[in-house]
Amino acid sequence: QGQEPAVGAGSVKQQLSRLVISSLRATVPEVEVEPMVEVSAKFADYQCNNAMGLWSKIKGSGTSFKNPNAIGQAIAKNLPSSDIIESTSVAGPGFVNITLSNSWVAKRIQDMLVNGINTWAPILPVKRAVIDFSSPNIAKEMHVGHLRSTIIGDTLARMFEFSNVDVLRRNHVGDWGTQFGMLIEYLFEKFPNWQEIGSQAIGDLQIFYKASKNRFDNDPEFKERAQQGVVRLQGGEEKYREAWKKICDISRSEFDLVYKRLNVELEEKGESFYNPYIPKVLAELSSKGLIQESEGAQVIFIEGYQIPLIVVKRDGGFNYASTDLSALWYRLNVEKAEWIIYVTDVGQQQHFEMFFKAARMAGWLPDPNEKKFPKTSHVGFGLVLGSDGKRFRTRSTEVVRLVELLDEAKSRSKSELLQRLTENGKIVDWTDEELEQTSEAVGYGAVKYADLKNNRLTNYTFSFEQMLSDKGNTAVYLQYAHARICSIIRKSNKDVEELKMSGAICLDHPDERVLGLYLIRFAEVVEEACTNLLPNVVCEYLYNLSEMFTKFYTNCQVVGSPEETSRLLLCQATAVVMRQCFQLLGITPVYKL
Ligand code: ARG
Repeated sequence: QGQEPAVGAGSVKQQLSRLVISSLRATVPEVEVEPMVEVSAKFADYQCNNAMGLWSKIKGSGTSFKNPNAIGQAIAKNLPSSDIIESTSVAGPGFVNITLSNSWVAKRIQDMLVNGINTWAPILPVKRAVIDFSSPNIAKEMHVGHLRSTIIGDTLARMFEFSNVDVLRRNHVGDWGTQFGMLIEYLFEKFPNWQEIGSQAIGDLQIFYKASKNRFDNDPEFKERAQQGVVRLQGGEEKYREAWKKICDISRSEFDLVYKRLNVELEEKGESFYNPYIPKVLAELSSKGLIQESEGAQVIFIEGYQIPLIVVKRDGGFNYASTDLSALWYRLNVEKAEWIIYVTDVGQQQHFEMFFKAARMAGWLPDPNEKKFPKTSHVGFGLVLGSDGKRFRTRSTEVVRLVELLDEAKSRSKSELLQRLTENGKIVDWTDEELEQTSEAVGYGAVKYADLKNNRLTNYTFSFEQMLSDKGNTAVYLQYAHARICSIIRKSNKDVEELKMSGAICLDHPDERVLGLYLIRFAEVVEEACTNLLPNVVCEYLYNLSEMFTKFYTNCQVVGSPEETSRLLLCQATAVVMRQCFQLLGITPVYKL
């Protein structure tokens, strides 16, 4: 920020936007507007749509322009000369159609092959972001909602990281709260030697939770003890702290099994971490006159909501909102994050809206109309449904065990792979290790892609059959498409690493040009996915890219043609971009299938 980006930096749209800004300044120096550059559906490759908006701003102000078309003409004429643009034309009410130069597109692709896909990272307006995702609750189930949060949050983190943003991946686990009194007392009762036991002794923490809850509900004496237990824990009594830690450790090792399978990195800073900050933060809010007493609780009234945000409960305890306010304070002031992103189901939307408003009332966040950062965003997502259209469950009414779910994805993908390889007699070419790794990459990738390809707000139906199908818009189909490109390159017996240095790309055939233009859109796709926090944008791009590649490959002979070098380089560029999409989606690509 502040400093202008280098000439060749950023997405194509960002590069064209810089040219448009300079043209707009020359064309209508009296008004300042944002450049409007879009991919064009029909007439050209890109278009600039500023003329109409400008016209409505300056007409009647004595301008010499006669109509929006005249403004469009002037914008086109004033574009600085650049090797990006081949030609422009102006249509109707001033739309400036921009055709890119073939040789520039070809060069951009070749540069990427030589210097790496990182040179295609978009430029985002923030340096540091917190992404708060996964965030299950200790001793309660980690359910499919947390799986969605884990998958979506990890992808967002990967996209921001790719775009050179420093991402703090935060696991805001629910490790504080009144349930711990009950859990700790139950631990003491069930396991007098609790200090020595390992996680196997307790077995399943969810069953442990249910049993202790049962005790709590049915034995007044136990209930009393549990309530005092909370006080002793919160008062910092050594033995209670230790027992709390033990329970958290056991839960954590359960969660880690899921993260490990999904290859997701997270740093845990649970609710307990922010606890010491709560009194200070509430004192600040109180000194700003935001906190009032209502029915014995401390609350913040927020315009537009019937019920206030409770920040101190009637019994004097803190809650989800007080923790979230402190965590936000910490993220803004200590961690200096400019964008703070929370990934949970849409059911929590109101909580986030209310506490974001409270933070704005406290002056922590700028007025959204004035300044863009720092800012907070809630990334909500819909439910996971079973084939019956109801909330996803396995077999009976049992909850879904995520580790088992992922194991099943892997074993199903393995048996399908084995069956196919046996049928084509190719099984002999595969080592056991390759089989393991491939079924894992395909199986886990299928679960992730099935989740990410939908707009996150819609509910999605979980179906192994669908996600593991090799037809349609699935990860398996895309893995095949990628492996096929790798095999085309292998079979050519040419060294693409060498070709990319000595050969050149040429985009004379229409299908080559379409593919080339689509390849160089990669950066703006990532930019859009980050800006709108929508991973499905990358999925859609990946799928379309594979379709465009098929069209190119059907119509343009690669191996043995006069254009072989150029076309092999296009194959390689497509494979590189596909792999980068896989990387952003947290999917491991396979090279042979
Ligand atoms: N633990 C919460 C849940 O399981 C999600 C926490 C999300 N993050 C936050 N800062 N509130 O629903």
